[in-house]
Amino acid sequence: MNIILLGPPGAGKGTQARHLVEERNMVQLSTGDMLRDARTSGTEMGKVVADVMDRGELVTDEIVIGLIREKLEGTHAGGFIFDGFPRTLAQADALTDLLAATGAKLDAVIEMQVDDAALVARVTGRFTCGDCGEVYHDVTHRPAAEGVCDKCGSTNMKRRADDNEESLRQRLMEYYKKTSPLIGYYYAKGQLRTVDGLAEIDDVQQAIAAILD
Ligand code: AP5
Repeated sequence: MNIILLGPPGAGKGTQARHLVEERNMVQLSTGDMLRDARTSGTEMGKVVADVMDRGELVTDEIVIGLIREKLEGTHAGGFIFDGFPRTLAQADALTDLLAATGAKLDAVIEMQVDDAALVARVTGRFTCGDCGEVYHDVTHRPAAEGVCDKCGSTNMKRRADDNEESLRQRLMEYYKKTSPLIGYYYAKGQLRTVDGLAEIDDVQQAIAAILD
């Protein structure tokens, strides 16, 4: 099964994708994570995208489609979760073609609906485990032991450079200008499903499970 998690920054895409990886043996393809890895490893592409990401703007279609193309060269029985991709109509068309080239298809597009007012608090309170990528929040989702990852025991917690209010507002602007048209696009294709992304994390998990089952 191949699905897209669609929603604005802070909607909970990464949180839910990680759960699906654990529960359903799916593979998470997060273009945000791939781009951050490229920055950390200091590749030429990483240097090119760093400023764009910090400003909260979108990286070019060419770069992100190239990243996804590489990942789709292998197949995976559990299927893929596209997290943060596609973000433009050009990316959506490219994904259709890339999947078709491997004989695969998209099974569902799950829109995570949230109130914009909740996103500032979510994004500015976020931190992640630098070793396994588990996502936490200062208020709503703290690790059981202060500063220690529940999943892997690491104390290497990190905050993202673009998780500040100014950058978030630009990311939201990009979302409404370039990504939200995908809601109508996938609705018209009969693939759109929606969940209430403002519900508790466990309840969102159950709503997504109900769609996938
Ligand atoms: P990316 O990394 O994709 O960021 P994003 O889309 O802005 O989404 P986030 O990761 O911020 O949020 P999320 O929905 O995953 O929320 P999370 O689960 O962490 O992209 C970063 C940048 O890379 C872009 O700005 C762009 O520059 C570039 N980029 C990436 N992909 C691109 C593409 N395809 N094309 C062009 N450029 C691209 O949750 C957030 C917080 O809320 C956490 O603290 C979590 O614990 C908490 N939380 C989650 N769910 C709940 C809940 N139900 N209740 C309460 N709290 C919750």
